[in-house]
Amino acid sequence: MNITPTRITVIGTGYLGATHAACMAELGFEVIGLDIDPVKIATLNAGTVPFYEPGLNELVGRHVESGQLRFTTDSAEAARFGQVHFIGVGTPQQPGRLAADMSYVEAAIDNMAPHLSDGDIVVGKSTVPVGTAARMQHRLNARLPAGARVDLVWNPEFLREGFAVEDTLRPDRIVLGTSNQRSIAILKHVYAQPIAQGSALLVTDRQTAELVKTAANAFLATKISFINAMAELCEAADADVADLADAIGHDARIGRRFLNAGVGFGGGCLPKDIRAFRARAGELGLEDTLSFLTDIDRINTRRRQRVIDLAEQALGGRVSGRRVAVLGLAFKPDSDDLRDSPALDVARQLHRRGADVRAYDPMATEMAAIRHPGLDYRYSLTDAIRAAELVLVLTEWNEFVRMDPVAMGELADQAIIIDARNCLDADAWKQAGWNYAGLGRQHPVYEDPQLVHVPDTIAELTGDLELVEK
Ligand code: UGA
Repeated sequence: MNITPTRITVIGTGYLGATHAACMAELGFEVIGLDIDPVKIATLNAGTVPFYEPGLNELVGRHVESGQLRFTTDSAEAARFGQVHFIGVGTPQQPGRLAADMSYVEAAIDNMAPHLSDGDIVVGKSTVPVGTAARMQHRLNARLPAGARVDLVWNPEFLREGFAVEDTLRPDRIVLGTSNQRSIAILKHVYAQPIAQGSALLVTDRQTAELVKTAANAFLATKISFINAMAELCEAADADVADLADAIGHDARIGRRFLNAGVGFGGGCLPKDIRAFRARAGELGLEDTLSFLTDIDRINTRRRQRVIDLAEQALGGRVSGRRVAVLGLAFKPDSDDLRDSPALDVARQLHRRGADVRAYDPMATEMAAIRHPGLDYRYSLTDAIRAAELVLVLTEWNEFVRMDPVAMGELADQAIIIDARNCLDADAWKQAGWNYAGLGRQHPVYEDPQLVHVPDTIAELTGDLELVEK
């Protein structure tokens, strides 16, 4: 192969791999995606994405139809097809341990190596402990056909779910971990379009590239837990964390992004990445260096407990037998990902305490119902809120941000709402008669919740209007 490859393999077709495969096709390459799950592969080959990611279905459908993108479960076929082989398989947390499970990365290397050709390059994108690339290069070399030389580059992925297509086609930075000039030239060709459009290109060694990813996620998690720690203080001091975040965020050195206090971070990345990072530091003999990430993790999980405590207070001390509308199940809006979702966790814990949880999410309800049967799932916002004694907003979907508090007040039995993402217009909800509580905002006062009155009509809310109408 010269340095202008045309055929690309992407191993793993989850949020990262499926998006990367479709975006590589969009950039003009012929792409084959590989996965061990035949159902997923059949779905993708039919031009449909088995999860929700804005814009991705359209992209996959278009490129499958044109023949530029296809999917297979046959690793030999995939390895023979591509010249550049991206690894985008999962590195989940090992059960009962902090460290990441590397078995999918190892299997990807083992399965493709015997079928690779001299001059191919393998490009790791998965989030891995520092030192993995060097280890995988040895593993690869031991399994390659005789005489073949294949360079392994680390090229971490920074896409966010909900923005995955945009982040892949127009990343803010592209990090290449390799000292091999030919590999750099090949990947500059692969990423020519985003580089031309302004994505920064940083070339470094493999271990720094691996660390860039874990350091970025650890920093983001720290930023969120910092503001959530401030939320705890604000609750104790009767201050307002949203105002505090706005004010400190004006300092360009701090910045306002990722300073939204609430029920905390979840998903398939930040929680397991900070744990694996700590575990790796320990392996390197640096037990204390990242020990602060234990606190970051603890602050984060305390927010879930805080929401449960508030729910109990709001309902007079016990949630058992009480109707609780849970709005949001996915770990963030514009995603149907339930992995380590704070929303789902809170919903399930309330259910375990005997609450009559009616849960609704614009995209994740069906998946939650399959994976966690037992909760009462509702398929519309109004069905979830009807007759509720308490409403919890746990994921800041636009559908919830835009709710009309007056109309919702007519549906609910008690006008008590806990905005665990601080995403609602608190004044509008209070004006509409709701007992509103955000997280880290002015302490809510729950008298006897049975006395919290829900206005029967819009006219009752707006006395003047009622007079005019009469
Ligand atoms: C995260 C990183 O942001 C990506 O850069 C990275 O590529 C990805 O992990 C990964 O490792 O693959 P993602 O998990 O999609 O992306 O979601 P984020 O947007 O980072 O949100 C993570 C969690 O933090 C969500 O539960 C979100 O609700 C929460 N969050 C975010 C807050 O609680 N407050 C904030 O201010 C921001």
